[in-house]
Amino acid sequence: MSESDNDELQLHPDTLAALNEFYKEREESEKQFERALENNDCTQESLDIQENWQLSQFWYDENTIKAITDAALKCTDDNSNIALISCPSLYKALKKKSDGRQVKLFEFDQRFSVFGTDFIFYDYNTPQNIPADLHGIFDLVICDPPFLSEECLSKTAITVRLLMKKKVVLCTGAIMEELSSKLLAVKKCTFTPHHKNNLANEFSCYSNFNFDNCIN
Ligand SMILES: C[S@@+](CC[C@H](N)C(=O)[O-])C[C@H]1O[C@@H](n2cnc3c(N)ncnc32)[C@H](O)[C@@H]1O
Repeated sequence: MSESDNDELQLHPDTLAALNEFYKEREESEKQFERALENNDCTQESLDIQENWQLSQFWYDENTIKAITDAALKCTDDNSNIALISCPSLYKALKKKSDGRQVKLFEFDQRFSVFGTDFIFYDYNTPQNIPADLHGIFDLVICDPPFLSEECLSKTAITVRLLMKKKVVLCTGAIMEELSSKLLAVKKCTFTPHHKNNLANEFSCYSNFNFDNCIN
């Protein structure tokens, strides 16, 4: 028996149960997704996309989704363009209430390509790889980079600056405050985003305007 086989056998039963639960949920989600695609049924309600931790996915809880999307609508008008970078769970709620606003999702996970032309494949490693017609057209950019690293935030900030006209809201770890301020001239908000599954790291929201004023 190899050493790795041995390691596998020694997994704690709770860990093994959690792992099996994760794979089961993922399989169910993939099946549901395939069905939605087959039926050409891509309504927000039909898609329940589970977190994939390998992609550093941690979805906001319902209150946070509502708070951010309501605030985004409040601080933009009907003719505005809104960009979501790496925060796909906001798309559903925002699109539903968007009125005339255009909402685009820049995201790495291809499962979200069911959002059709509103989905733009995005990898922060190639931050300037953005269609030219989308440069500088977004009245509001909301982003939540996948990793709490200087490299990831610096590259994501390049994209933010390419896309934005004026306003940016950044959700990321509390430890990124100083760098966020340097890169995007944002300040920490009183409002704090929360996740469906609690994160180990303290999380914060930053903006370059008074986003707290738009939060109900
Ligand atoms: C920390 S999560 C933020 C999700 C947000 N809290 C939400 O509820 O929508 C990071 C996001 O970055 C995406 N991501 C992963 N790898 C990426 C990459 N190389 N480039 C851009 N985004 C990436 C993940 O798919 C995920 O949606």
